[in-house]
Amino acid sequence: MAKRLTLIFLIASHLFVSGVTSNNLTIENKCDYTVWPGILTSIGSLSTSTSGFALKKGESRAIHAPSLWSGQIWGRTLCSINSTGKFSCATGDCNSGEIECSGRDSNSPRSLVELSIDGHNINSYRVSVVDGYNFPLQVVPQRTFKSERCTDVSCDVVDLNQLACPYELMVVDEEERPIACTNPCRISNCYTSSSYTQIFKNACPTARVDNGDNNYFACPSSTDYFITFCPSLTPIPTSK
Ligand SMILES: *[C@@H]1O[C@H](CO)[C@@H](O)[C@H](O)[C@H]1NC(C)=O
Ligand SMILES: *[C@@H]1O[C@H](CO)[C@@H](O)[C@H](O)[C@H]1NC(C)=O
Repeated sequence: MAKRLTLIFLIASHLFVSGVTSNNLTIENKCDYTVWPGILTSIGSLSTSTSGFALKKGESRAIHAPSLWSGQIWGRTLCSINSTGKFSCATGDCNSGEIECSGRDSNSPRSLVELSIDGHNINSYRVSVVDGYNFPLQVVPQRTFKSERCTDVSCDVVDLNQLACPYELMVVDEEERPIACTNPCRISNCYTSSSYTQIFKNACPTARVDNGDNNYFACPSSTDYFITFCPSLTPIPTSK
C-alpha cells in the first residue's frame, strides 16, 4: 500500500512539475527605434524556429524555449538592405546577409543575454558586455512560486554610448553619433584592475564585463523570462 501511494505521488508530482514547466522568453523592445533581435542556439532548438526578426518600438514577442536549451540573445540596430539585397546592421550584425542569423555569431559590439536551461530545468543566465555594448537591456526571470524571486540582471544604469564610453572605444555612425562601445576586455583579460572594466561595471553592475568572469545567476527551476531592450532607467526621485 505504501509503495502504491509513493508511486501515485510520484506520478502526481511529475504531472505537477510538467504542468508548471514553462520557459518562454518574451523579448520586448522599449527602445525609441526598431531593434532586430538575433538568437544563436548552442544546445537544443526553439519551437518557433527563428534566429532573427524585427521588433518595432513598443513591440514584444514570446518565444517558447524547450526544457533543454542554451544560447544567446542580443539586439541589432540600424539595419538595412543594400542595393544587392544583403541585410546588415551597424551594431550586433551576424554577417548572414539576411534578417535571420541562421547559426552565425556576431563579432560586432553588442549587449548580450546568455541563457541556459538544462534538462532538470535549472536555469542559468547572465547579461554580458564582454562583446561590447549597443543599448541597455534587462533580464527578469518570472519565477514566482515559493516566495523566492530569482535575481534580475541588467545593464541599464547609464546609457554607455552617450555618457560613459571612452572616446577610443566609441563606435559612431556616419553622422558621428555614438551607436556602440567596444570592450577591449573581450580579447585580453582585464580583470578588475582595469579602468575599462570599471567603466563597464559602473554602467552594468550585474553584468559580465570581463572575459575572466565566468559567473552566472541561477534560477532553481523552470521560469519564463522577460528580456527588455532599453528598460527605463531608474527614475531620479523628484523633490516636491
Ligand atoms: C509559451 O509559449 C507558447 C508558444 O508560443 C504558448 O503557447 C504558451 O501559452 C506560452 N506559455 C506561457 C505560460 O506564456
Ligand atoms: C551589400 O552588403 C554586403 C554585406 O554587408 C556587402 O558585402 C556588399 O559589399 C554590399 N554591397 C553594396 C553594393 O554595398
